[in-house]
Amino acid sequence: MTIQQLSSYIALAIALQVAAFVAVVLFQKWRDYRRVGSSTAMGSDAAPAQDLPPASEVPGSWSGYREFRVQRKEFEDRNQSICSFYCVPVDGQALPPFKPGQFLTFRLNVHTGRDAKSIVRCYSLSHAPDPGYYRVTIKRMGPPHGKPELPPGVSSNYFHDQVEVGTVLTVKAPSGHFYLRDVDQSPVVLIGGGIGITPMLSMLETTLSLTPGREVWLFYGIRNGREHIMKAKLCDLAQRHPNFHLHVCYSRPEPEDIPGRDFQHASHVNIGLLRQTLNLRPYHFYICGPRQMMESLVPALADWGVDPDCIHYEAFGPSTVPKLTKASKEPPAPRPAAAALPKVRFAASAIERQWDTRADSLLEFAEDLGLSVPSGCRAGSCGSCQTKIVSGEVETSKEPDFDVTTGCCLLCISKPKSDLVLSL
Ligand SMILES: Cc1cc2nc3c(=O)[nH]c(=O)nc-3n(C[C@H](O)[C@H](O)[C@H](O)COP(=O)(O)OP(=O)(O)OC[C@H]3O[C@@H](n4cnc5c(N)ncnc54)[C@H](O)[C@@H]3O)c2cc1C
Ligand code: FES
Repeated sequence: MTIQQLSSYIALAIALQVAAFVAVVLFQKWRDYRRVGSSTAMGSDAAPAQDLPPASEVPGSWSGYREFRVQRKEFEDRNQSICSFYCVPVDGQALPPFKPGQFLTFRLNVHTGRDAKSIVRCYSLSHAPDPGYYRVTIKRMGPPHGKPELPPGVSSNYFHDQVEVGTVLTVKAPSGHFYLRDVDQSPVVLIGGGIGITPMLSMLETTLSLTPGREVWLFYGIRNGREHIMKAKLCDLAQRHPNFHLHVCYSRPEPEDIPGRDFQHASHVNIGLLRQTLNLRPYHFYICGPRQMMESLVPALADWGVDPDCIHYEAFGPSTVPKLTKASKEPPAPRPAAAALPKVRFAASAIERQWDTRADSLLEFAEDLGLSVPSGCRAGSCGSCQTKIVSGEVETSKEPDFDVTTGCCLLCISKPKSDLVLSL
C-alpha cells in the first residue's frame, strides 16, 4: 500500500466518522423536536379547545350584550386607515380577563341613508388583559380591489366615521378558541398579515409581561411603511427583550422605506423565510392574516413537518384553509354523484332543495334561495347564524369559535352530511 493510498483511507475513515456523528446529532434533534412538539399539543384550529369554559362562565363575565363607552380613539398607521378604540364599561365594574387572541362581538345600529340596520361584527382584542378597558384595532375596508362600484365595508367605516369618544357601543364578552396556550412556555412563533396582526399584539404583550423569558418570534407582513402599525412600540419591545425576535416583511416597499431600519425582509411572510430563520425547535405557530397567506402558509407548515396540533390559526372572514388534521394528507373522498346529494329542507320556510355543491356553506345556499338569514362574521365566530337542526347531520369546515348550543349548527361553516331539516 502506498502512502497516498493510506492517507486516502485515513481521510475517508475520518469523513465517515464525521458524517455518522452529524447524522446521529441530527436524528436526536429531529426526535426531540417530534417528541416535544406532540407532547405539548393543546389544541388548535384542528382540535377543539376543551379547556376553556363558555365566555359567560368566566368569573366576572356577562351574557348577552353590555354597554361600553369609547374613551379614546387613536390612529395607528401613516395611512390613517387603522384605528384603535379604547372602550370602558358604562357600569364602571372591573372587566373579566380574556385569553390573548380572543375577540369581542359588537352589535351596531348603523344608519345608511334613511335606513337603519343592526349588524354584528367581531374584533380581536389587541392588547394584554387589563381590568380597566378593552381595546380593538380596526381597519377601514374599502370596496374590493377593482370594484369601486360596490359599497365599502359597513361596520369598519361606521367605526372610523361615526364612532367618537363618548359613543356607547353594545358588546358581548370576550370569546374565541384561538388564543395563546401557555404549554410549559414552549417557544412561540406569531405570524400576522395585515390587520391579522391584532391578536398577535395581544399574545405578544401578554407573553412579554407575564413570561418575559419565553422565546417569541413575530413575523409581521404588510405592503409598506404606510401600513405599518405600532412601529415604535414593537421596536422598543424588541430592544428591551433579547428573547423577542421581530421580523417585519414589506411585500412592496416604497422608496422611503429603509431596509434594516423600517423592515427586515422585502417579501411576503412565506415558508422559505420561516425555514431560513427559525432553528429546529418545537415551536407553536399562531397565524392570522389574509386568505392567500393562510391558504399557503398553514399547509406549508404541515408539509415542513410541523405537528398539526402545534399550528393554530384564525381567519377574519370566510377562508378555505382546509381543516388541518393528522390525516389531512389522505386523498379527499370522491365527489358524490348528483343523485346522491343530500336534500335540505328549511322547515319554517317550507322549501326543500337538493344540496348544491357550488355553495360554500348552508348560509350561502339559504341566501341563494332567497331566505333571509341573520349573519355577521360568516366565519363561525359571532353565532348570528346559529340554527336548530330538526333532523340530519352537518359537517363543518372549521372548529367554531362560538360555543354552539347542542342540537344547533352555524350555517356559515356547515354543509349537509345527510338529508337535513333545519328549523329556519
Ligand atoms: C374573529 C374575528 C376577529 C376579527 N378581528 C378584526 C380586527 O381586529 N380588526 C379588523 O379590522 N377586523 C377584524 N375582523 C374582521 C371584521 O369582523 C369585519 O369583517 C371587517 O371589519 C369588515 O367588516 P365591514 O362591515 O366593514 O365590511 P362588510 O360590510 O362586511 O364588507 C366586507 C367587504 O365586502 C365588500 N362588499 C360589499 N358589498 C359587496 C358585494 N355585493 N359583493 C362583494 N363584496 C362586497 C365591501 O366593500 C368590503 O370590502 C375580525 C373578524 C373575525 C371573524
Ligand atoms: S355568521 Fe357569525 S357564526 Fe355564522
